[in-house]
Amino acid sequence: MNINELIKDRRTIYAITKDIPVSDEEVVKLITDATELVPDAFNMKSQRVYIALGEKQDQLWDAIYDAFGGKVAREKIDSFKAGHGTVLYYYDKAIVESLQEQFPLYAANFPTWAQQSNGMLQFTVWAGLRNLGIGASLQHYNPIIDDAVKALFNVPDNYVLVAQMPFGGIAELPAEKEKEDISLRVTVAK
Ligand SMILES: Cc1cc2nc3c(=O)[nH]c(=O)nc-3n(C[C@H](O)[C@H](O)[C@H](O)COP(=O)(O)O)c2cc1C
Repeated sequence: MNINELIKDRRTIYAITKDIPVSDEEVVKLITDATELVPDAFNMKSQRVYIALGEKQDQLWDAIYDAFGGKVAREKIDSFKAGHGTVLYYYDKAIVESLQEQFPLYAANFPTWAQQSNGMLQFTVWAGLRNLGIGASLQHYNPIIDDAVKALFNVPDNYVLVAQMPFGGIAELPAEKEKEDISLRVTVAK
């Protein structure tokens, strides 16, 4: 299959439910394989993922709501809590720092590279979930929620939270993307 055929259905899907068309094991396998396969600078293997399912999914979104002390809409948080699970994307700062020490000429680049690899992982999982019939979106309640989430999942202090991806059965698909003149953003030179 052409890769763009696979990724074209990946969209930001907010209307998600607890019912997914595959088993938890299939979801976990997809995310585990993606974590192994996605590239990372100097092959540093800096990416870390937590997958919240079942009770932990509900506890996560309640903790996120509480961390904001009422400053986020309950309905918005509940729309994510309504999903089957959430992928928490981290990178390990200790690995980044050790590479910075080993390769001082590139020191400034390693945190950016860790973020870039994290983005590649997010995208791979996002498209892969959609391929399993699961909808997802990408959320950024960090850094406000960092301590609460760390406590809930017993996350090491050196892990940096980058994004949260609530996912679930698809209750409603988003509207089609607006057409754009993509030639404004792609230049071919020969
Ligand atoms: C780096 C990045 C950060 C994003 N942050 C958020 C976010 O915090 N909340 C959200 O609802 N969507 C977020 N999105 C989703 C974008 O708004 C969305 O991908 C874009 O509008 C295109 O829509 P599509 O995903 O349906 O193609 C983010 C996407 C990217 C790539």
